[in-house]
Amino acid sequence: MELTLSAGNLAAWSVEPSGFPATGTTLEKARYAVRYAILAPSSHNTQPWHFVINGEELLVCADRTRSLPNIDPFDRELIISCGAALFNLRVAVANFNIPVAIATFPYSAEPDVMARVTFPDSGPALKDLAALFDAITKRATNRGPFFAEDVPDAFVERLRLAAEAEGVNVALVRGLIARARVAALIAEADQRQFDDPRFRRELASWIHSSRSSDGMPSLSQGLPALTDFTTKIAAMTIRTFDVGNGVAAAHEQLARRSPLLVALSTPMDNNEAWLTAGQGLQRLLLVATKDGYSASYLNQAIEVSELRGRLASELQMTGYPQLLLRVGRGSAVPRSPRRPIADVLW
Ligand SMILES: Cc1cc2nc3c(=O)[nH]c(=O)nc-3n(C[C@H](O)[C@H](O)[C@H](O)COP(=O)(O)O)c2cc1C
Repeated sequence: MELTLSAGNLAAWSVEPSGFPATGTTLEKARYAVRYAILAPSSHNTQPWHFVINGEELLVCADRTRSLPNIDPFDRELIISCGAALFNLRVAVANFNIPVAIATFPYSAEPDVMARVTFPDSGPALKDLAALFDAITKRATNRGPFFAEDVPDAFVERLRLAAEAEGVNVALVRGLIARARVAALIAEADQRQFDDPRFRRELASWIHSSRSSDGMPSLSQGLPALTDFTTKIAAMTIRTFDVGNGVAAAHEQLARRSPLLVALSTPMDNNEAWLTAGQGLQRLLLVATKDGYSASYLNQAIEVSELRGRLASELQMTGYPQLLLRVGRGSAVPRSPRRPIADVLW
């Protein structure tokens, strides 16, 4: 069943490689590559980034005015989101054969500059990255139930290698009992988050129907009842009532029934680690997309600080958990909106 968005600016998804200015200047080419960077996922679809042409270089910057102070008080997920956008940019420049040199956090006095991209005359052909290009416009977060089928070992191995190639560690949760234990932690985290009116207000403000270029618009009818709170419950209900029990039960069931849960972690827990986590996330997501799989996020046990350590012990992770994904194959889902390129590329 094809689903459509009830609202939202989807123009950004129509970007075509044929529009690439092959005879233009390097900066014109780089600007075109940014159109692919902004298709990255971001927490609550805040799109907390902007891109600045500064002389002969391109800066990838965090936009902290788009932060989520309640669920993300240290901008951890915000920087992860910027990392995902940076990875898309790397894939796009690899595809268009634009040699780049990238320095992360290049200015200690400018913590919002996540990366500085410069353009040397030559560089290696990055075939592995270029091969992921087509997946950028195909990827979408899929919060629906996945088909009840096992995931092949070779695919799971490709996911692990994708994350590790970016310096991100992976814990795989495949067994029924292990999934049920993690699902219980997710449900506990949901209940704690929804107990807090500040959490509910923040969530509601990003699914508000007045948003058209960001946030998570309500989807049209047609999704199964237990898919996701953004579709099931209107923003006003989320803001006003503690619907934690229902959401917890729905997410617990989704996690139990997903064939594969993947936790991503990093050895450190700082700005660099978060930017790395975002790049590892997006590399894994594009590899999954290429293989016909999709993913959605069950990060709540990482967002609730007391539960983050419990999740790490449950999964015997040595580093810091950054993201928890469910991965599988499911029905097609609609794209989410993006801000116009002119709003984010200066
Ligand atoms: C760091 C990060 C955290 C996220 N956390 C959640 C989450 O907890 N629940 C959820 O449903 N989606 C989560 N998402 C997915 C975003 O809501 C999604 O990427 C955004 O709405 C844009 O939609 P798209 O991925 O389909 O392009 C997260 C994404 C990122 C990058």
